[in-house]
Amino acid sequence: MKRIFAVAVICAMPISASLADGHGGNDEAKKYAAESKAVVMEFFKQVKGEMQSTMKASGPIDTIEVCSKTAPSIAKAFSEKHGMTVARTTLKPRNPVNAPDAWEEKVLKKFEERLAAGEKPEDMAFFEIVEADGKKNFRFMKAIGMPPLDKAPCLKCHGESIDPTISTKLDELYPEDKARGYKAGQIRGAFTITKSLD
Ligand code: HEC
Repeated sequence: MKRIFAVAVICAMPISASLADGHGGNDEAKKYAAESKAVVMEFFKQVKGEMQSTMKASGPIDTIEVCSKTAPSIAKAFSEKHGMTVARTTLKPRNPVNAPDAWEEKVLKKFEERLAAGEKPEDMAFFEIVEADGKKNFRFMKAIGMPPLDKAPCLKCHGESIDPTISTKLDELYPEDKARGYKAGQIRGAFTITKSLD
């Protein structure tokens, strides 16, 4: 499991994955897509709990630490439990380990096109069985939208005006941070799941 799955991500992400427009359409792919959706929801619930309690008890600086330490261990447990690699990716990563591979980049760009065509991030998912280098994988992605500040604190750490106490800490931890300057309604990134079918 290379990527880490920050707690921050999930704090108020609406999960209503519409899988209708995913493709790769055989029964095996559909079964794994339903499983992936369930995994994302379960993960969301656990991480959201961690994030909310830390935010409440100790504020955003400690919550940053939760993102980089607690979340990866939860992601690892989930990946092992479900026999799938669970991670997040984005076109503008804060942590470079979350940068997309070629397939993910293609899907993220499609999500941007779908956004431009008027679709909502919370309705976007995509899955496909991908064969590469003699290996067969089921791959699933579910877009993560950027909610307005009255729905979730995401913009405090990813928005256009970030409090200096937070941005100083982010500068220190993530010198290559690209994940700032977002506005509500944009696509922050996506959950990405890979399951080996070999
Ligand atoms: C307390 C600050 C904070 C808040 C609030 C926050 N994030 Fe983050 N976010 C981070 C940090 C730190 C990382 C990098 C984690 C890592 O090292 O993988 C991150 C990473 C991410 C990533 C992974 C891709 C990347 O850029 O590395 C996504 C997606 C993401 N956040 C979405 C969200 C969403 C959606 C919300 C609101 C539900 C949110 N974040 C709220 C700090 C925050």
